Amino acid sequence: MKILAIETSCDETSAAIIENGRKITSLLVATQVEEHRLYGGVVPEIASRRHCESICQIVDMCLKKANLNFYDIDAIAVTFSPGLIGALLVGVNYAKGLSLALKKPLIPVHHLRSHIASNYLTHPDLKPPFLSLIISGGHSHIVLVKDYCEFKVIGRTKDDAVGEAYDKVARALGFPYPGGIQVDKASVKGNPSSYNLPRPSVEGSPFDFSFSGLKTAVLNILNSTKQKGDKINEYDLCASFQLAVCDLISSRVVFAARDLNQNKIVVAGGVSANSGIRKRLMQDAKDNNFKLYLPDISLCGDNAAMVASQAYYEFKNGNIADMSLNAIASLAIDYI
Ligand code: KG4
Ligand code: ZN
Repeated sequence: MKILAIETSCDETSAAIIENGRKITSLLVATQVEEHRLYGGVVPEIASRRHCESICQIVDMCLKKANLNFYDIDAIAVTFSPGLIGALLVGVNYAKGLSLALKKPLIPVHHLRSHIASNYLTHPDLKPPFLSLIISGGHSHIVLVKDYCEFKVIGRTKDDAVGEAYDKVARALGFPYPGGIQVDKASVKGNPSSYNLPRPSVEGSPFDFSFSGLKTAVLNILNSTKQKGDKINEYDLCASFQLAVCDLISSRVVFAARDLNQNKIVVAGGVSANSGIRKRLMQDAKDNNFKLYLPDISLCGDNAAMVASQAYYEFKNGNIADMSLNAIASLAIDYI
């Protein structure tokens, strides 16, 4: 079964064709990063406009790359939630139009479910059940994936998402957008024990995260150093921040895996590209005897290949939409 998927939830316009949920036939990602960098972050209105301008071309190029035409496609999939509402609407309306014109099924895909599916493309042997750590710009979750379309949220952030904390620290340091990767690169050159940063926990919720206190501690160090007229060692501060993030993530994941008796851990979301987190979780897997699945670096960020992969399982599960499908800015992963 060939699924053509569309992803426009944030600042990447992407189209992909995937065979039976696992084989990438064609994938194109057009990023808007350069333009948003001028403003230090994603400007929702600009994002929607650029999606409108490029969606038709991206889909045409995707088909051409696969040497296919619209009539070779068996179903159309689209990210419908969560994300920037104006950006999502472009993909949803384009996909609805295509589905109506071609008389092919329309499959709605939840963005976080699709991030998990980036691992089905990377690891052909991977099948639920497993425990998933989702770390992105907007979400930080520990989720029990009981089946391809059955999820139970075990833990979540009570404030900032981990990617958001990275981006805010990067912005305060004057790094260009998107900042997460810049902090990651700087941290490799620093000493992680230079700054004493907190590891906040959520009382009574051992699987939940809190990153805002850690982020504020970094911002306070920056401000007080500036006030004293001293120069900050950016590498050391980034390394100390990254170590604190790794400690927070690692402790919750290991505890959740043990408590729920899960020996497969699947990492997903844009922050899964982080070198420190990858290394730490690999060590945790060795020490605790669980199998770790990390998405290929090329599939960590937003892309339509992961959407088509999840769509295959949504379709098999009967999750098909009609022309009343709408974009939804915020929706839990276990919505059905
Ligand atoms: O999943 P994603 O592409 O978009 C959302 O669904 O949010 O994640 C984007 C987030 C941004 O916050 C970005 O700074 C962060 O992932 N990110 C990283 C790294 N690469 C991307 N954060 C830390 N280290 C990285 N190497
Ligand atoms: Zn994402």
